Amino acid sequence: MSESVIGVTGLAVMGANLARNIARRGVPIAVHNRTPARTGEFIDAYGEEGAFTAAESLEDLVDALEKPRRIIVMVKAGQPVDEVISELTPLLDEGDIIIDAGNSHFPDTRRRTAECAERGLRFMGVGVSGGEEGALLGPSIMPGGDADAYAAVTEILTSIAAQVDGTPCCVHVGPDGAGHYVKMVHNGIEYADIQLIAEAYDLLTHVAGLDTAAIGKIFAEWNSGDLESFLIEITATVLAKTDETTGGPLVDVIADQAEQKGTGRWTAIDALDLGVPLTAITEAVFARTLSSLSDERRAAAATLGGPTPGGGANRDDLVDDIRQALYASKVVAYAQGFAQMRAASQAYGWDLDLGAMATIWRGGCIIRAQFLNRIRDAYAEHPDLDNLLMVPYFTQAVADAQDAWRRVVVTATEQGVAVPAFSSSLSYYDGYRRERGPANLIQGLRDFFGAHTYLRTDTEGSFHTRWGQDGAEVRTDG
Ligand code: 6PG
Repeated sequence: MSESVIGVTGLAVMGANLARNIARRGVPIAVHNRTPARTGEFIDAYGEEGAFTAAESLEDLVDALEKPRRIIVMVKAGQPVDEVISELTPLLDEGDIIIDAGNSHFPDTRRRTAECAERGLRFMGVGVSGGEEGALLGPSIMPGGDADAYAAVTEILTSIAAQVDGTPCCVHVGPDGAGHYVKMVHNGIEYADIQLIAEAYDLLTHVAGLDTAAIGKIFAEWNSGDLESFLIEITATVLAKTDETTGGPLVDVIADQAEQKGTGRWTAIDALDLGVPLTAITEAVFARTLSSLSDERRAAAATLGGPTPGGGANRDDLVDDIRQALYASKVVAYAQGFAQMRAASQAYGWDLDLGAMATIWRGGCIIRAQFLNRIRDAYAEHPDLDNLLMVPYFTQAVADAQDAWRRVVVTATEQGVAVPAFSSSLSYYDGYRRERGPANLIQGLRDFFGAHTYLRTDTEGSFHTRWGQDGAEVRTDG
């Protein structure tokens, strides 16, 4: 039995494809699955692709590996990861590396890193994006963990990652949960991107009155401009697909109930914890939740009144307005996601290089897009940027699109089409660009009912008005 350089446990499609990708680079690899029959099937199907060692048990897997051992765990996020770790731990030696390449929640990764460290083991939480095909042909990889652990897997990970202009889409993200955090925000942005596309599709269908085939062609055209991205490209493909049963577009017979595994929700929850306004991603999560209330929606459709969308606008102008609204909203969604990573970097002590994150998202991952080159350039010029909207390219892009963006939100509102991601992105833009908003009144109200105090614009200090007593203002900070 030849010594394997690395091992994989968990041979469902993502684990299997990652193992094949590694083997195809000429790296001897040991493979294991909880159900040994699956390992056998894997070897039967792909054994010729590289130097595989089939491991019947975790003991066999550990025995097959050179030291320090490197073991990729590719099982369902949550309890199964903890179970594999606790089974592996007694079999491993000091310095061995456990690499969790699933979509684990970053606090779990922080905890596991600390628990493994107590036992002398190195733990890495690695974000992998690109779906099944990406895992096989080149994903975007977001490795978190100690730098010395990353050094032990750099060659393998960078060689299997997608490459853009000769640069691998893989870079050390930061310690403990940083890799899984960045993957989580990637997924959150994926939610926002998908929701914006769905809103554009809805408007094109119900306000512009276009059929599915025509909308598919519009998305294909949009894919050659600023919006060029994997998600726009596959939107055109999905819309063009004919259903074998009905002979009509497949999307017309897919139920409108969006599911979610949790990464978008985690992103929104963490934004709330960090105090980052993350409106586009959060609205995208809520929109999926609302979509799943199908019984309630059926009843509401028969009960709640409102306009019936359709017509009223010049179709060509409307189509181009929707394109611009999509782009401007997308800029806001990314600006918010990157602002969240900046806040997380400070809060969790990760020292994230945001330009590098944009760089490794240019290829392999679900949100890969031309646009990420612009984000990379922005951080190259301004590494301490608070908000992407403040960089001249994006300031101008949003300024150029905003008339169209406002028209789309107005038209959608007038015609009764819900556009939560378009409109919340626009509201964020309008809120962010205002030097003075209405929060003065919020503070006045809070002070009235709870003596929560307020600051004044004209002097230092903290104040309270004795609203229910003599109405006098008192200073509360000394
Ligand atoms: C990726 C995807 C991948 C997966 C999402 C889907 O980057 O390859 O994001 O991680 O498809 O988990 O998430 P939902 O099921 O929550 O939509």
